[in-house]
Amino acid sequence: MSQPVGEDGSPAVQSQAADDRRPFVVGDRVMLLDSKDRRYLQTLSVGGEFHAHAGPVSHDDLIGRPEGVVVRSSRGGSYTAVRPTLAEVILKMPRGAQVIYPKDLGPILMLADIFLGARVLEAGVGSGALSMTLLRAGADVVGYELREDFANRARANVVSFLGPEVLGRYRVELRDVYDGIDEQNLDRMILDLPEPWRVVKHAETALRPGGILVAYLPTIGQVAQLREAMDDSGLGMAETVEVLQRSWHIDGPSVRPDHRMVAHTGFLTAARLLAGKSGGRPSAPYAQAKWDQRRRGSWPDRSGYEPSEPEPEPEPGPEPQAEPGPMPKPERERGSRRERGSGSGSERDFGFGPERDDGPGRERESGCGREDGALGGGAGM
Ligand SMILES: C[S@@+](CC[C@H](N)C(=O)[O-])C[C@H]1O[C@@H](n2cnc3c(N)ncnc32)[C@H](O)[C@@H]1O
Repeated sequence: MSQPVGEDGSPAVQSQAADDRRPFVVGDRVMLLDSKDRRYLQTLSVGGEFHAHAGPVSHDDLIGRPEGVVVRSSRGGSYTAVRPTLAEVILKMPRGAQVIYPKDLGPILMLADIFLGARVLEAGVGSGALSMTLLRAGADVVGYELREDFANRARANVVSFLGPEVLGRYRVELRDVYDGIDEQNLDRMILDLPEPWRVVKHAETALRPGGILVAYLPTIGQVAQLREAMDDSGLGMAETVEVLQRSWHIDGPSVRPDHRMVAHTGFLTAARLLAGKSGGRPSAPYAQAKWDQRRRGSWPDRSGYEPSEPEPEPEPGPEPQAEPGPMPKPERERGSRRERGSGSGSERDFGFGPERDDGPGRERESGCGREDGALGGGAGM
């Protein structure tokens, strides 16, 4: 295993187990913020220097000082020094593979219900951002990873942030999780790889009853394929969520959402291994109804609407009298309505179809909104 190093190349020895309430000591990881809120990570060493645009900042000026202290560079630049949070380290640390962002890492802890001593299988480990998050929350983690360079990167990042003692509950194996899982009685499995549906059958034997599987996936097509595999497995109570985070600009009277945000990262899907479900008809009544519908091939179609019974023929009767209607709409609005009605626009491509009066009502009736958590708040987020 390679020796862990800080961002400046020096050995990184700071441990989360250390008492972070004390003043800065040699080996501490420190984040320096300049006047433009640019952030730099350093690992403190005696005689060390941070080379800024405005001249060097001496590490000796930081050692023994409390968090939040402001230090000056040789040419008068000022820098605020704090210990970085886990989220800040993840955004700054060296990467092999793309990391899961903090906005999704927090919800993963909740969806997977991570607890102290939880036995977790993680695949693939990539740069170790998720490993760090799970270990920091107290889990024991076995990671499966295909690539040796990524496995080494993950271990180095983990040790750099949590200290070498964390290796007592963190092991990374170089192997393909699609080929199978040796561990048994796992409490949790967290997957961040392209085809998690190929892991579902292994999860059925590796998880203990009630164990939770969480998968992070960037595209909704992948989510649909995973959910189908889950439906045909012993995993039930599945839910999928997307987490949107919008920061705000607050500066005196100027209070508004920031102009930029991370628009999309991925979808989180969680399900549990249920003793009464073995790839056949599920035991939970609400899940049975959905399963039966799927087996009949009647639902869902691409629009997500359930097909309805054919409308009964209206009784022959007198011609209805024309009611006085609303004022005619401006031409532009009528035009756009006709466009939507023709089904030639992008709405049709996405399967929503032409505008119909009973659309939203039917969606509510079918329970789609509640079942997928959008209205029912299944994920509680
Ligand atoms: C996006 S990265 C994971 C990043 C990681 N979650 C993090 O937060 O740093 C995906 C990783 O999955 C690994 N991978 C892909 N397929 C795999 C498989 N079948 N078994 C094990 N690892 C796999 C890749 O090598 C890659 O490192």
